Amino acid sequence: MEEFLSGLRELEEAGTAAIRSASAPEELERVRVEYLGRKARLTQMLRSVRELPHEQRRSAGAEANRIKRCLLELVEARAAELKAAAAEPTAEIDPTLPGRSRWRGARHPCTLVIDEICDIFKELGFSRARGPEAETTWYNFTALNTPLDHPAADEQDTFYLGDDILLRTHTSPVQARVMEGSRPPVRIVVPGVAYRRDPFDASHAPAFEQIEGLAVDEGISFVDFKASISYFVHRFFGEDTATRFRPSFFPFTEPSAEVDVSCVLCRGEGCSACKGTGWIEIMGAGMVDPAVFENVGYDSERYTGFAFGMGVGRIAMLRYQIPDIRLLYDGDVRFLQQFEHA
Ligand code: DAH
Repeated sequence: MEEFLSGLRELEEAGTAAIRSASAPEELERVRVEYLGRKARLTQMLRSVRELPHEQRRSAGAEANRIKRCLLELVEARAAELKAAAAEPTAEIDPTLPGRSRWRGARHPCTLVIDEICDIFKELGFSRARGPEAETTWYNFTALNTPLDHPAADEQDTFYLGDDILLRTHTSPVQARVMEGSRPPVRIVVPGVAYRRDPFDASHAPAFEQIEGLAVDEGISFVDFKASISYFVHRFFGEDTATRFRPSFFPFTEPSAEVDVSCVLCRGEGCSACKGTGWIEIMGAGMVDPAVFENVGYDSERYTGFAFGMGVGRIAMLRYQIPDIRLLYDGDVRFLQQFEHA
């Protein structure tokens, strides 16, 4: 009897495993015949129950029948599973489709323009400098000869982080920081972000890149100033681009100028980009005001210099013919990706 029951248990185990692992209807049918068919061992054992001693027949028969029912149920369940799996659509692979190319990063158009401009000034001996975006009113205004009650400070009245600290409204404060920390000659270009209380529109952004420039030494004249700026314009916009200096005012330069270039789109004939004038303004500039030298401890009798500041976004728009400055800041990679590899 013991032998009979352990034989049954072995069959149950082996049969269960075989049914569960059947991976196709034909295989399942083979397993069914093996364990439940007319010639199956279980069938034979069921038949042989009547040969057991009388008092053992009942329980042995019940156990053999239980196992038979169990295996039958498992076969039915597995058959249903296999049928359901066959009905699911299989993902077809189309080997003729082009492969997916890998994500390829690209530098932002403003970064491209910053690098190009700094490289041109490097040819003239300028190195790159940086300064903090959270700036004190001293460096942002006062050191640059702009008292806080001066209208030029009003215009830029902006994001204050405390009584005396604000997000810098231009990159010009780095002029004062660098001069304080070194002796002439100074020749720097300073790329960086500036902040203003400006609405976001087609030509303004409240946070935008600028490049500041400063050259200080003994004997730097207005001629050096014009020649350096013209050199840059020729190198960046092309040899046939004209440069024009218009009188202007900045508290930190005297005399001051706005620098225009002949319109790169219409070559000076007049179009919508230059509003029909043939000229496009690219920077503010001038000869460093002696008061600024005094504020940083430079002898204003001995040293002279020139400075300039330009909006990188504007120049990127000109270079790549981008109609709206917001495109630079929306963060749409489909747009931003186009420039580096073009
Ligand atoms: N800081 C000025 C601005 O943001 C631009 C500027 C004008 C910078 C004249 C200069 C300069 O260095 O000399 O509008």
